[in-house]
Amino acid sequence: VDELSGQLDGKVALITGAARGQGRSHAVGFAESGADIIAIDLCGQIDSVAYPMARPDDLAETERLVAKTGRRMISKVADVRNLEQLQDACRDGASELGRLDFVIANAGIAPLFGEPAQEPSAYRDAIDVLLNGVHFTIEAAIPELLRHGDGGAIVVTSSAVAFRSASPSWDSRSEGAAGYTAAKAGVMGLMRYYATILGEKRIRVNSVHPSVVATPMADNQAVQTQVFEHPSWSAYFRNPLGVDVLDTSDVTAAVLYLCGDSGRYITGITLPVDAGTLLI
Ligand SMILES: NC(=O)c1ccc[n+]([C@@H]2O[C@H](COP(=O)([O-])OP(=O)(O)OC[C@H]3O[C@@H](n4cnc5c(N)ncnc54)[C@H](O)[C@@H]3O)[C@@H](O)[C@H]2O)c1
Repeated sequence: VDELSGQLDGKVALITGAARGQGRSHAVGFAESGADIIAIDLCGQIDSVAYPMARPDDLAETERLVAKTGRRMISKVADVRNLEQLQDACRDGASELGRLDFVIANAGIAPLFGEPAQEPSAYRDAIDVLLNGVHFTIEAAIPELLRHGDGGAIVVTSSAVAFRSASPSWDSRSEGAAGYTAAKAGVMGLMRYYATILGEKRIRVNSVHPSVVATPMADNQAVQTQVFEHPSWSAYFRNPLGVDVLDTSDVTAAVLYLCGDSGRYITGITLPVDAGTLLI
């Protein structure tokens, strides 16, 4: 990130799911590169999710880390399933920070584990947060992205499982995994749709597809139990580079690459950040 320092001076990035994990890493990485941040997170639990989701303290910690870089951050507790809340957050954030240039649609849940994952509500929650939430995030941001006429960039966080399945076997299947797989594949369609229609506005749109990343979504008791009970899951941890799990900074580097001048002629692509997991 060091060599990017100052590259995004005067820019503003909106990041959903910014309280922790990859979203926090993106917030700090963009701030280190010179951008001010609009950070959105639910800071609450969703019933079909078997691991603890972020809390208000987590969002406050992201704010502390961004402040250390000298950049400004506006925190908004909002639900990506709620278009109005996102519109308010975009309007307030952009008016306080002056503009909006980048949108990182990163908020997510993995309702893949335990009993709740077997309920139809797990399927619906996955689609609501991971597919509809991305649509709402982009729709809410578009008026602010268009306001200054300088173009911009959007990155959608999909997953390596968009190219395969979020359940590796019959005995590990769940409603939640069906929803997760469908949503992560669905956002590739949204990405291509927006990349096509926003090109003439000089707004680029791409997706990143991480394999397993060291965040509370992947590193928790529910996941460990699942992998233990269904060894077929361990396939997701195998890759040609022999990397156990990715660091959040690996994904942040890819997102910064796509948003910065480095990505100025890149739009409509699906970028795996997966140590080659998809090869095997
Ligand atoms: N960790 C992995 O192994 C992995 C792999 C591939 C893709 N992903 C994707 O990466 C993204 C980031 O996940 P992470 O690994 O940082 O997990 P995480 O659980 O640490 O962070 C996700 C954040 O999204 C927030 N969020 C969830 N639902 C929300 C909602 N309705 N409205 C607003 N905020 C909400 C959570 O509160 C949390 O802070 C997700 O889209 C996830 O599906 C994760």
